[in-house]
Amino acid sequence: MDINALTHKAKVGFKVTFENDSSIVAAAPGRVNLIGEHIDYCDGFVLPFALAQNIVIAAAPNDTSIARFASDQGDEIVEIDLTGDILESSPKWANYPRGVMQYFREETGCSLTGFDAYITSNVPAGGGLSSSAAFELAVATLLEELTKKTLGTKEKALLSQKAEHHYAHVPCGIMDQFASAFGEENHLVLIDCQISEPHLVPFENPDLTVIVANTCVSHELSDGGYASRRQNTEDGLKIIGKETWRDVSMDDVEAAKEEMGDVIFRRSRHVVSEIQRVKDAVMALEAQAFDALGSYMYASHDSLRDDFNVSCEELDIMVDIAKSIGKGGGVIGSRMTGGGFGGSTVTLCESSNADAIIATLHQQYKTRTGITPEIFTSRPSQGARILEGAPRAAQVVPPSPELDPIG
Ligand code: GLA
Repeated sequence: MDINALTHKAKVGFKVTFENDSSIVAAAPGRVNLIGEHIDYCDGFVLPFALAQNIVIAAAPNDTSIARFASDQGDEIVEIDLTGDILESSPKWANYPRGVMQYFREETGCSLTGFDAYITSNVPAGGGLSSSAAFELAVATLLEELTKKTLGTKEKALLSQKAEHHYAHVPCGIMDQFASAFGEENHLVLIDCQISEPHLVPFENPDLTVIVANTCVSHELSDGGYASRRQNTEDGLKIIGKETWRDVSMDDVEAAKEEMGDVIFRRSRHVVSEIQRVKDAVMALEAQAFDALGSYMYASHDSLRDDFNVSCEELDIMVDIAKSIGKGGGVIGSRMTGGGFGGSTVTLCESSNADAIIATLHQQYKTRTGITPEIFTSRPSQGARILEGAPRAAQVVPPSPELDPIG
């Protein structure tokens, strides 16, 4: 379903649910990460892009002090009172907009008045493709339009990350929200996570295609696997005794091996090697050295599987199939993408072979696991935006005669 069809679905859903026409449509994309995993919270570099898959919200003010959220996922309408502090509550999915609304008010000083919102999405939920960041950014963008108060893009991404930390209790880094906020067509978003700065890297070669393969499994989701990995890296850095991972060399990690013990040592080795791989991958991309780029992607997967232990059997199988298709079949590189423990892989391939590769991934994955995967191609697309806006008050006010210096 493309963005137009998704928008249509959101507007029709809005009308049927709230018996009114929507006046605003906001959208924000999920993301896929080409390389640089589990190092956004280690001051590393990451290289995601905004997917063509989005969360789209149709909305309109409702002249009350209540925000009502409905979606195409069920008949439930969640009502959120905007008169006092907005606290966590049930259902859980509504905690994303709760957090974003609370922080939007705090940070802009704007009060919020009531509105109705209807949500549609073609970002696979639980697919490791940041549907939650897309949801946060779509809500924040909607609030900007409703209040006519525009946040800076970075401010909006950080506000969304804060909602994820405190309302969804995932101590995530900045990658997902930055990719969803800063994404541009035909560009990767290289993020320097030490200074929280995005840098757009052109990615428009029509001969290259990115395949996203959702394994359709999610293990250990918010069971603390993510938080414990983050803690491991903090412990590792403490033992090394440096301020930031950016100043840590592999020699530093080796020197601290005894004191670290096996687990922290392997986590630390992943961080240092992955930071280097992203730098190498960006150079390979610029030099169009695709074989090298592919080898960094495979090495990233191996490190996430063996040192960081965030892969799982299904992700390994999907990467293994891509690798066995290999260069001869048009595969350049493949790896797990996102937080791990299930979710998706990202495979870079030659466009002319993409259909055949998707067919093979699909068929062999199903044979080996018994699970039907969800596989699609995507291109770097635009970040969070308003697709249809509320009419603005006239901006140009003619000067009054008495203030006119010429008159
Ligand atoms: C999740 C988090 C990100 C990042 C990735 C792993 O998607 O939200 O901040 O840490 O995992 O790279």
